[in-house]
Amino acid sequence: MQQRKNDFYLRQANSEDMMLLFDWVNEKTVRENSFSTDMISIDKHKEWFQKSLQNKDRFIYILMKDDLPLGQIRFDVSDEEAEIDYSIDKAYRNKGIGNIIISLGIERITKDCNRVKTIVAKVKGTNAYSQKCFIRNGFEEYGKISDSDYEIVEYRKS
Ligand SMILES: CC(C)(COP(=O)(O)OP(=O)(O)OC[C@H]1O[C@@H](n2cnc3c(N)ncnc32)[C@H](O)[C@@H]1OP(=O)(O)O)[C@@H](O)C(=O)NCCC(=O)NCCS
Repeated sequence: MQQRKNDFYLRQANSEDMMLLFDWVNEKTVRENSFSTDMISIDKHKEWFQKSLQNKDRFIYILMKDDLPLGQIRFDVSDEEAEIDYSIDKAYRNKGIGNIIISLGIERITKDCNRVKTIVAKVKGTNAYSQKCFIRNGFEEYGKISDSDYEIVEYRKS
């Protein structure tokens, strides 16, 4: 389905998003595509989220269409690099929204944190849909790291 990027917007995550992000992070495919596949407890998530909201180098945005939250994108900034984590609500996948959240996310992080020059994405070798999203957004493969359990493909865009 063709989506119009203008129909979507990003807003900064706030303390009221704690349970939304908790549900998303423990969704089955999100866990499978993460480097640590264990389920995350509510206590661990609460601690992580509260610290994240205070962390000046971490930027978490919620993708919205009208009043509906559709996904999240996070950037962890270190020097001039920002590493991406993102996901789309299971009910809205495979509709072109993954491509849109990355595009809007990059526009936003480079405005909100103007020292960012390079966006870094590390994706499991098995996560073909996410790899397509990065390639469609102009990322280039930078290298591959093989762990004993899985392969990680690193993409970069400057
Ligand atoms: C990865 C993820 C964010 C992609 O979001 P999405 O909204 O489903 O992605 P899109 O609809 O924009 O599709 C991206 C590409 O994958 C393809 N794709 C996505 N789901 C597909 C499916 N079920 N079957 C076939 N192709 C599919 C699309 O055709 C598209 O390819 P194209 O750019 O060549 O047209 C989403 O699947 C997700 O949240 N996964 C769990 C979390 C995750 O893996 N996060 C990324 C960690 S690096």
